[in-house]
Amino acid sequence: MAEPDAGSAHWRGLRVVARGANRVCVIDPELPGHCLKYPLPPDPAARRSLRHRLRALLARLAPWRGGNRLELRAWRRLHARLGDALHARVARCVGLVDTPHGPALRCELVTGADQAPAPSVYACLFGAARGRYGAEALCAAVSRFEAWLHEAAVPLFDLNSGNLVAVERAGRVELVCIDVKSVLENKEIVPFSRWSRRLARRKIARRAERLRRRIREHAPLAGAQAGH
Ligand SMILES: Nc1ncnc2c1ncn2[C@@H]1O[C@H](COP(=O)(O)OP(=O)(O)OP(=O)(O)O)[C@@H](O)[C@H]1O
Ligand SMILES: [Mg+2]
Repeated sequence: MAEPDAGSAHWRGLRVVARGANRVCVIDPELPGHCLKYPLPPDPAARRSLRHRLRALLARLAPWRGGNRLELRAWRRLHARLGDALHARVARCVGLVDTPHGPALRCELVTGADQAPAPSVYACLFGAARGRYGAEALCAAVSRFEAWLHEAAVPLFDLNSGNLVAVERAGRVELVCIDVKSVLENKEIVPFSRWSRRLARRKIARRAERLRRRIREHAPLAGAQAGH
Protein backbone atom coordinates (compact mmCIF):
# COMPACT_ATOMS: atom_id res chain seq x y z
CA MET A 1 0.00 0.00 0.00
CA ALA A 2 1.21 3.50 -0.71
CA GLU A 3 1.90 5.39 2.48
CA PRO A 4 -1.44 7.01 3.28
CA ASP A 5 -0.07 10.52 3.66
CA ALA A 6 2.53 10.17 0.89
CA GLY A 7 0.12 10.99 -1.92
CA SER A 8 -1.92 14.11 -2.49
CA ALA A 9 -4.32 15.19 0.25
CA HIS A 10 -7.06 15.54 -2.37
CA TRP A 11 -8.42 13.31 -5.08
CA ARG A 12 -10.67 15.01 -7.64
CA GLY A 13 -11.27 17.79 -5.14
CA LEU A 14 -12.33 15.41 -2.35
CA ARG A 15 -10.38 15.10 0.91
CA VAL A 16 -8.39 11.87 1.00
CA VAL A 17 -8.58 9.75 4.15
CA ALA A 18 -6.00 7.26 2.82
CA ARG A 19 -5.07 5.35 -0.30
CA GLY A 20 -5.05 1.55 -0.39
CA ALA A 21 -3.44 -0.71 -2.96
CA ASN A 22 -6.56 -0.66 -5.10
CA ARG A 23 -8.85 2.09 -3.83
CA VAL A 24 -8.78 5.62 -2.55
CA CYS A 25 -10.89 6.46 0.49
CA VAL A 26 -12.21 10.06 0.66
CA ILE A 27 -14.45 12.04 3.01
CA ASP A 28 -18.06 11.82 1.79
CA PRO A 29 -19.06 15.39 0.86
CA GLU A 30 -22.78 14.50 0.98
CA LEU A 31 -23.16 12.54 4.20
CA PRO A 32 -21.31 13.66 7.35
CA GLY A 33 -19.55 10.88 9.21
CA HIS A 34 -19.12 8.77 6.09
CA CYS A 35 -16.46 8.05 3.49
CA LEU A 36 -16.50 6.96 -0.15
CA LYS A 37 -14.22 4.36 -1.71
CA TYR A 38 -13.32 4.64 -5.39
CA PRO A 39 -11.39 2.05 -7.38
CA LEU A 40 -8.02 3.33 -8.57
CA PRO A 41 -6.63 2.48 -12.02
CA PRO A 42 -3.63 0.14 -11.77
CA ASP A 43 -0.37 2.02 -11.20
CA PRO A 44 1.89 1.06 -14.16
CA ALA A 45 4.98 1.86 -12.06
CA ALA A 46 3.97 -0.52 -9.26
CA ARG A 47 5.40 -4.02 -9.34
CA ARG A 48 2.37 -6.27 -8.95
CA SER A 49 2.17 -9.99 -8.40
CA LEU A 50 0.49 -12.14 -11.04
CA ARG A 51 -2.42 -12.62 -8.64
CA HIS A 52 -2.89 -8.83 -8.33
CA ARG A 53 -2.74 -8.35 -12.09
CA LEU A 54 -5.21 -11.16 -12.73
CA ARG A 55 -7.55 -9.71 -10.12
CA ALA A 56 -7.38 -6.24 -11.74
CA LEU A 57 -8.11 -7.81 -15.14
CA LEU A 58 -11.04 -9.76 -13.72
CA ALA A 59 -12.41 -6.60 -12.07
CA ARG A 60 -12.37 -4.88 -15.48
CA LEU A 61 -13.93 -7.84 -17.31
CA ALA A 62 -16.44 -8.63 -14.57
CA PRO A 63 -17.14 -5.40 -12.64
CA TRP A 64 -19.71 -7.12 -10.39
CA ARG A 65 -16.73 -8.89 -8.82
CA GLY A 66 -14.84 -5.62 -8.16
CA GLY A 67 -13.59 -4.71 -4.67
CA ASN A 68 -16.49 -2.42 -3.73
CA ARG A 69 -19.18 -4.95 -4.61
CA LEU A 70 -17.29 -7.75 -2.96
CA GLU A 71 -16.82 -5.72 0.21
CA LEU A 72 -20.51 -4.79 0.34
CA ARG A 73 -21.60 -8.42 -0.17
CA ALA A 74 -19.16 -9.63 2.48
CA TRP A 75 -20.32 -6.97 4.97
CA ARG A 76 -24.00 -7.75 4.32
CA ARG A 77 -23.40 -11.43 4.84
CA LEU A 78 -21.74 -10.77 8.21
CA HIS A 79 -24.43 -8.30 9.23
CA ALA A 80 -27.21 -10.76 8.36
CA ARG A 81 -25.62 -13.28 10.72
CA LEU A 82 -24.30 -11.08 13.53
CA GLY A 83 -26.64 -8.06 13.46
CA ASP A 84 -25.66 -4.66 14.86
CA ALA A 85 -23.12 -6.26 17.23
CA LEU A 86 -20.89 -6.21 14.14
CA HIS A 87 -20.54 -2.41 14.33
CA ALA A 88 -18.16 -2.59 17.28
CA ARG A 89 -15.61 -4.53 15.21
CA VAL A 90 -16.32 -3.71 11.55
CA ALA A 91 -17.09 -0.36 9.90
CA ARG A 92 -20.65 -0.24 8.56
CA CYS A 93 -21.07 -0.41 4.77
CA VAL A 94 -24.04 1.68 3.62
CA GLY A 95 -24.20 0.83 -0.09
CA LEU A 96 -23.00 1.60 -3.60
CA VAL A 97 -23.70 5.15 -4.70
CA ASP A 98 -23.45 6.99 -8.02
CA THR A 99 -21.41 10.14 -7.69
CA PRO A 100 -20.06 12.75 -10.13
CA HIS A 101 -16.74 10.88 -9.99
CA GLY A 102 -18.22 7.47 -10.72
CA PRO A 103 -19.61 4.65 -8.58
CA ALA A 104 -18.34 4.46 -5.01
CA LEU A 105 -18.90 2.44 -1.86
CA ARG A 106 -20.27 4.53 1.01
CA CYS A 107 -19.14 3.43 4.48
CA GLU A 108 -19.23 4.78 7.98
CA LEU A 109 -16.02 6.74 8.57
CA VAL A 110 -14.28 5.36 11.64
CA THR A 111 -13.03 8.31 13.69
CA GLY A 112 -11.27 9.06 16.95
CA ALA A 113 -12.66 11.17 19.79
CA ASP A 114 -11.45 14.29 17.86
CA GLN A 115 -13.64 13.23 14.89
CA ALA A 116 -10.51 12.84 12.72
CA PRO A 117 -10.29 9.61 10.66
CA ALA A 118 -8.84 6.80 12.77
CA PRO A 119 -5.34 5.85 11.58
CA SER A 120 -4.73 2.40 10.11
CA VAL A 121 -2.26 0.12 11.90
CA TYR A 122 -0.05 0.79 8.88
CA ALA A 123 -0.17 4.54 9.59
CA CYS A 124 0.59 3.79 13.26
CA LEU A 125 3.78 1.99 12.16
CA PHE A 126 4.95 3.95 9.14
CA GLY A 127 2.68 6.97 8.60
CA ALA A 128 1.44 10.12 10.23
CA ALA A 129 0.32 8.30 13.42
CA ARG A 130 3.61 6.49 14.07
CA GLY A 131 4.48 6.41 17.71
CA ARG A 132 0.90 7.14 18.80
CA TYR A 133 0.52 3.65 20.29
CA GLY A 134 3.17 1.33 21.67
CA ALA A 135 3.85 -2.11 20.18
CA GLU A 136 2.45 -3.96 23.19
CA ALA A 137 -0.82 -1.99 23.20
CA LEU A 138 -1.27 -2.62 19.46
CA CYS A 139 -0.41 -6.32 19.80
CA ALA A 140 -2.91 -6.69 22.67
CA ALA A 141 -5.54 -5.03 20.44
CA VAL A 142 -4.72 -7.53 17.64
CA SER A 143 -5.21 -10.38 20.14
CA ARG A 144 -8.62 -9.05 21.26
CA PHE A 145 -9.65 -8.62 17.62
CA GLU A 146 -8.46 -12.16 16.88
CA ALA A 147 -10.42 -13.53 19.88
CA TRP A 148 -13.57 -11.91 18.48
CA LEU A 149 -12.97 -13.48 15.03
CA HIS A 150 -12.70 -16.91 16.66
CA GLU A 151 -15.68 -16.38 18.95
CA ALA A 152 -17.96 -15.11 16.17
CA ALA A 153 -16.51 -17.59 13.61
CA VAL A 154 -15.73 -14.80 11.14
CA PRO A 155 -13.45 -16.10 8.33
CA LEU A 156 -11.58 -12.80 7.91
CA PHE A 157 -8.15 -13.82 6.66
CA ASP A 158 -6.68 -10.59 5.31
CA LEU A 159 -5.39 -9.19 8.59
CA ASN A 160 -3.05 -6.71 6.96
CA SER A 161 -2.10 -3.45 8.61
CA GLY A 162 -4.07 -1.36 6.10
CA ASN A 163 -7.36 -3.13 6.73
CA LEU A 164 -7.51 -2.36 10.47
CA VAL A 165 -7.80 1.08 12.05
CA ALA A 166 -6.98 1.97 15.65
CA VAL A 167 -9.48 3.68 17.95
CA GLU A 168 -9.44 4.43 21.67
CA ARG A 169 -12.22 2.86 23.71
CA ALA A 170 -12.50 2.84 27.48
CA GLY A 171 -8.91 4.04 27.75
CA ARG A 172 -7.31 1.43 25.53
CA VAL A 173 -6.63 0.93 21.86
CA GLU A 174 -8.98 -1.34 19.90
CA LEU A 175 -8.99 -2.33 16.24
CA VAL A 176 -11.84 -1.90 13.80
CA CYS A 177 -11.79 -3.61 10.41
CA ILE A 178 -12.53 -1.33 7.46
CA ASP A 179 -12.22 -3.93 4.68
CA VAL A 180 -13.96 -7.30 4.99
CA LYS A 181 -13.52 -8.41 1.34
CA SER A 182 -11.49 -11.41 2.45
CA VAL A 183 -14.57 -12.96 4.10
CA LEU A 184 -15.67 -13.87 0.54
CA GLU A 185 -12.43 -13.59 -1.41
CA ASN A 186 -10.73 -16.83 -2.26
CA LYS A 187 -6.96 -16.77 -2.51
CA GLU A 188 -6.37 -20.49 -2.10
CA ILE A 189 -6.27 -22.74 -5.17
CA VAL A 190 -8.16 -25.39 -3.19
CA PRO A 191 -10.11 -23.46 -0.49
CA PHE A 192 -9.52 -25.85 2.42
CA SER A 193 -9.86 -23.05 5.01
CA ARG A 194 -13.39 -22.36 3.76
CA TRP A 195 -14.43 -25.98 4.29
CA SER A 196 -12.92 -26.65 7.69
CA ARG A 197 -13.62 -24.55 10.78
CA ARG A 198 -10.43 -25.89 12.37
CA LEU A 199 -8.30 -24.86 9.39
CA ALA A 200 -9.99 -21.45 9.34
CA ARG A 201 -9.11 -20.92 13.02
CA ARG A 202 -5.52 -21.90 12.35
CA LYS A 203 -5.28 -19.56 9.38
CA ILE A 204 -6.66 -16.64 11.40
CA ALA A 205 -4.23 -17.43 14.23
CA ARG A 206 -1.29 -17.46 11.76
CA ARG A 207 -2.33 -14.15 10.20
CA ALA A 208 -2.83 -12.50 13.60
CA GLU A 209 0.59 -13.72 14.73
CA ARG A 210 2.15 -12.37 11.53
CA LEU A 211 0.59 -8.95 12.20
CA ARG A 212 1.83 -8.94 15.82
CA ARG A 213 5.31 -9.86 14.59
CA ARG A 214 5.22 -7.04 12.10
CA ILE A 215 4.11 -4.59 14.79
CA ARG A 216 6.92 -5.70 17.13
CA GLU A 217 9.49 -5.43 14.32
CA HIS A 218 8.44 -2.02 13.09
CA ALA A 219 6.80 -0.09 15.92
CA PRO A 220 10.16 1.11 17.31
CA LEU A 221 11.49 1.94 13.83
CA ALA A 222 9.41 5.04 13.32
CA GLY A 223 9.66 6.35 9.80
CA ALA A 224 10.66 3.05 8.13
CA GLN A 225 9.02 2.18 4.81
CA ALA A 226 7.51 -1.13 3.80
CA GLY A 227 4.51 -2.73 2.13
CA HIS A 228 1.58 -4.29 4.03
N1 LIG B 1 -14.44 3.26 6.93
C1 LIG B 1 -13.22 3.79 7.06
N2 LIG B 1 -12.94 4.61 8.11
C2 LIG B 1 -11.70 5.16 8.26
N3 LIG B 1 -10.68 4.94 7.39
C3 LIG B 1 -10.90 4.13 6.32
C4 LIG B 1 -12.17 3.52 6.11
N4 LIG B 1 -12.10 2.77 4.98
C5 LIG B 1 -10.83 2.91 4.51
N5 LIG B 1 -10.10 3.72 5.31
C6 LIG B 1 -8.69 4.10 5.10
O1 LIG B 1 -8.35 3.87 3.73
C7 LIG B 1 -7.28 2.90 3.62
C8 LIG B 1 -7.52 1.98 2.43
O2 LIG B 1 -8.79 1.35 2.57
P1 LIG B 1 -9.15 -0.08 1.97
O3 LIG B 1 -8.40 -1.16 2.68
O4 LIG B 1 -10.60 -0.19 1.97
O5 LIG B 1 -8.60 0.04 0.46
P2 LIG B 1 -7.92 -1.11 -0.42
O6 LIG B 1 -7.61 -0.56 -1.75
O7 LIG B 1 -8.70 -2.33 -0.25
O8 LIG B 1 -6.55 -1.30 0.27
P3 LIG B 1 -5.68 -2.63 0.27
O9 LIG B 1 -5.91 -3.29 -1.04
O10 LIG B 1 -4.30 -2.11 0.47
O11 LIG B 1 -6.23 -3.44 1.41
C9 LIG B 1 -7.26 2.18 4.96
O12 LIG B 1 -5.95 1.72 5.27
C10 LIG B 1 -7.74 3.25 5.94
O13 LIG B 1 -6.66 4.07 6.35
MG1 LIG C 1 -7.97 -3.12 1.99
